[in-house]
Amino acid sequence: MTIGIIVYSETGNTLTVARTLEQQLSSQGHPVTLEQLQVTGNPRSKDQLQLESRPNLEEYERLIMGSPVHAFSLSPAMTAFLQQIPSLDQKPTIAFVTQFFPFAWMGGNRALRQMTTLCKERSGRLLASAVINWSHPRRDPNISKIVERLSQKIIQ
Ligand SMILES: Cc1cc2nc3c(=O)[nH]c(=O)nc-3n(C[C@H](O)[C@H](O)[C@H](O)COP(=O)(O)O)c2cc1C
Repeated sequence: MTIGIIVYSETGNTLTVARTLEQQLSSQGHPVTLEQLQVTGNPRSKDQLQLESRPNLEEYERLIMGSPVHAFSLSPAMTAFLQQIPSLDQKPTIAFVTQFFPFAWMGGNRALRQMTTLCKERSGRLLASAVINWSHPRRDPNISKIVERLSQKIIQ
């Protein structure tokens, strides 16, 4: 089963989690491709940025999407991407966000809600989701647990 991991990352946090997921899934023998969204223009405004890369989601049977939280919301880049994709046709999908603050109520939950709503509007079938809190004292064990949980869900 082909898995696409589509990630937007500015300072590398979300990319780190995406790479860990990629390693975990490929070590289990699944064909995984990680694609990074690149933007030009103003990355703080979904209406003033241009997506340089447009991953072809039809190549994948399952999707994992990852984004940072920006200003208590989903990043404008991931928002713009999800608004532009064609129907996901009930494709099994996982969404995750990373945020600086240690608690999910400090923007993570809201960003994830926005992301899952956009996926569902595109007829994605949400299997699981996660918020990763970068300044949480137990960040690394938390990431390990989340990667384990999401990896199991995506192959079910
Ligand atoms: C413009 C901007 C706004 C941000 N807003 C928030 C926020 O509302 N809540 C939060 O916890 N972190 C916020 N952050 C921090 C990022 O969400 C966090 O560092 C994230 O892990 C960065 O991911 P990346 O390294 O993949 O870009 C913000 C960062 C930027 C650049």
